[in-house]
Order: sequence, then structure tokens, then C-alpha cells
Amino acid sequence: MVEFSEREKRQILDYLELLREEINEKLDKYTDFGERCPKYLAEPMRYSLLSTGKRIRPTLTLLACELCGTLRSHALPAACAIEMIHTYSLIHDDLPALDNDDLRRGQLTCHIKYDESSAILAGDALQAYAYEVLSKDVFPKDVAGRCVAILAEACGPCDLVGGQADDMAWKANGAPSLEFLESIHHRKTGAMILAGLRMGATIGGASRLQMEKLDEYGRNYGLAFQITDDLLDVTSDEETTGKHVRKDISQGKLTFPSFLGVEESRKQAYEKVRAAYDALNVFQSDSIVYKCMVGLTQQLLDRKK
Ligand code: IPE
Ligand code: IPE
Ligand code: MG
Ligand code: MG
Ligand code: MG
Repeated sequence: MVEFSEREKRQILDYLELLREEINEKLDKYTDFGERCPKYLAEPMRYSLLSTGKRIRPTLTLLACELCGTLRSHALPAACAIEMIHTYSLIHDDLPALDNDDLRRGQLTCHIKYDESSAILAGDALQAYAYEVLSKDVFPKDVAGRCVAILAEACGPCDLVGGQADDMAWKANGAPSLEFLESIHHRKTGAMILAGLRMGATIGGASRLQMEKLDEYGRNYGLAFQITDDLLDVTSDEETTGKHVRKDISQGKLTFPSFLGVEESRKQAYEKVRAAYDALNVFQSDSIVYKCMVGLTQQLLDRKK
């Protein structure tokens, strides 16, 4: 993999920060509903959406678009749409009936800050609104249609929600296997990361080879992302992650560390990160966009939150 110079590291951080600001600003504008939406719905939506998420998925959408040679501003609505879906999935993931968490992104979870009905409805509204944004603000319209299909598939019954269902009920599936565990992680987490990349690449006009390579990248990045999330639950703390830790064991979740142990899980994460990095080799390696993709990928191995 790559050892960046201090100067390159600074450039990468600055560039990623710029993207984060663009995403945050646009999310803020998108959810400035005024009188059109009841305050007690808009408030929990904005409370969760505008909190300090890492913005990994929308950042990957913008980077994928740029990597294919198109201005990233064209992908900003799609970037916002995926963050809306992601936030809805977090609000619902934290509900008492699912993971029952009261801390997220360093603040109270939506249903604790407000109440359960507000959190359920905020999640519902964010999900629907994501498709309004995608279908109205992505151009040309055939590209918008393709993005809607990509996102809908990724957060539907066979991916995100299916993965969440298996995460909740994995014991019903008989003795666990590495294959099943990877499949849960791919569906509940990897699919959305892949969708972010696919929408960015679609808007960016990716060639077939670029699309294939970004897919290979996204599959590996997505798995490494959830493996390292599982690891943080075992090895990190609330202060750093902004969420409660040691929850997976106490709730009997099927995770990489519970199935393979910490050391083997780290090895698996390394292998996925390495494979993701290798998949980027068709792109120009001296551009800042490429360097940001590599930086984001390698950073997974040293993830703090
Ligand atoms: C948390 O995702 C849920 C998982 C898929 C593990 P992130 O770690 O991207 O959470 P935020 O958006 O930065 O809060
Ligand atoms: C959640 O996975 C993935 C989602 C689809 C929201 P986790 O349950 O491990 O995510 P955290 O640890 O609560 O962020
Ligand atoms: Mg969960
Ligand atoms: Mg959870
Ligand atoms: Mg987790």
C-alpha cells in the first residue's frame, strides 16, 4: 500500500474536510423545510441527520464521480440521498426493538432525545425524502432513474433491511458460518457503501472497467468497514466512538470478533483493505481524488471511530 508524505497527508485531510463541508451544507439546505413540514418531525430529522457523522458514504459518492472525470457537484444530491438513507437506518437500528441504544454520534439517540414515534417517523421521512431528492435533482433523468434503482435495491429486502433482519435473528439460521457472517455484513453495511460508489460512478459516466473496479473496491471496503466497526465495539470506548461499546457481546450479536477472535478479525480487515486498494489500480495514481480514496481505505486499519 502507500506511505504518504506529511504534505500529502495534509492535502488529503483538507480535501476530505472540504467534501464534508459541502455535504453538510447541502444536507442543511435540503432539510430547511420551513412551514411545509411539522416542526416536531423536521426537528428529529435534522437532529440526527446534521449530527457529526463521518459522512463516509456520501464522500465516496463524490469521490467516485470525480474519479471518473466529472465535476462532483453533479453527484451532491445523490451524496445527500445516501446519507439520508444511512441516517434513517441508524435511527431505526438504535430503537428499543432493534439494538436499543441511547448514544449515537456522541449524542442521545433520536428516540431518547425525542420519543419512539418521532424517531420512527423521522426515519420514515428521511427514507422517502432521499428518493425525492434523487429523482428530482439528479440529471439527466435516465441517470436519476438508474440511481433510484441502485439505492432502492441496496436498502431493500435483499440488502440493508435483509441484512438487519439476519443480524437480529441470526440464530434462527442454524450454526453460523464465516460465509453467513460475511453475507450479513455485506448486506447490512456493504451494500450501502457500494450503492454510494455506484451512484457516483454512474453520474460520473464510468466506463465498464471503472464500474467493475469500483464494485470490487466497494465490496472489500464495505466488509472491512463493518469488521472494523465490530472490532471497535470490543477494543474502543464511548468517548472515542460516540456510541456505547461492548454492546455486541451483551446482545449476543454475530460479529467478526465473536466468531473469529480479535486477531483473526484484524487479519481479515487487512486483507479486505488490501484488496480494496488493489482494485483502485486502474485509476490515475497522482490525482488528489485517488489519494483520498487510498487514504480513506488505509485509514480503516487505524480507525478510531
Ligand atoms: C455506523 O456507520 C453503522 C455501521 C454500518 C457500522 P458509520 O460508522 O458510518 O456511522 P456515522 O455515519 O459515522 O455515524
Ligand atoms: C448497523 O450495524 C448497520 C446498519 C444498517 C445501521 P451496527 O448495529 O453494528 O451499527 P452500530 O454499531 O450500531 O453503529
Ligand atoms: Mg445493528
Ligand atoms: Mg447498532
Ligand atoms: Mg456496530
